[in-house]
Amino acid sequence: MTNSRLDMTMMFAVHDALRRELTHLARITSRTGDDPRRLLAAAVGWELFKGYLHVHHTSEDDKLWPAMRRAVAGRPDDLALLDAMEAEHAVIDPLLAAIDAAVADADSGHERLGGLVDQLTTDLTGHLKHEETDALPLIGATLGEREWTEFGQEHSRRVGPDARGYLPWVLDGMDEERRAAILGRFPEHLRETYARDWRPAFEQISRWG
Ligand SMILES: [Fe+2]
Repeated sequence: MTNSRLDMTMMFAVHDALRRELTHLARITSRTGDDPRRLLAAAVGWELFKGYLHVHHTSEDDKLWPAMRRAVAGRPDDLALLDAMEAEHAVIDPLLAAIDAAVADADSGHERLGGLVDQLTTDLTGHLKHEETDALPLIGATLGEREWTEFGQEHSRRVGPDARGYLPWVLDGMDEERRAAILGRFPEHLRETYARDWRPAFEQISRWG
């Protein structure tokens, strides 16, 4: 965790959720005795992962990195770090597309799938670590409260009406203390809706088969 005057609770929670889903992805695509292509094609978890990763990365690309470029203008090392963040994002979408192409390739897709999932895991976990180690401390030290809030609002706007799926997805598998701390930041009616409707509905989904 980084010490910051900005509240980065949700950023770390989303990153942890992405890492959690990568382990599910690796588990089902390394299964023997069944065709991983068939398992992945049917996995709701894969669609959720791609959708929420897209929301997260495009919100950063469109809102966070540009705000940071203004905040660190004239500082080459910091600008180079932001270049690296964007470059690391840019390799992820082609990997997701390559995985989907391997799933759809009935002939030789199975030969590529394991390697592609390994590559995605390496690249995405490496990126998240880099962001947490270097970019988030820089953001904490330089970005204004208003710009950080605007980034969070943009992220929420892109999740939109899917909050009923997104919030339980972020919080899934989290220890109760951390879950309660995150929920404590939301209005009471939303916490109640989460506990009464959203969480039980989410837990009904067998998202990785
Ligand atoms: Fe992030």
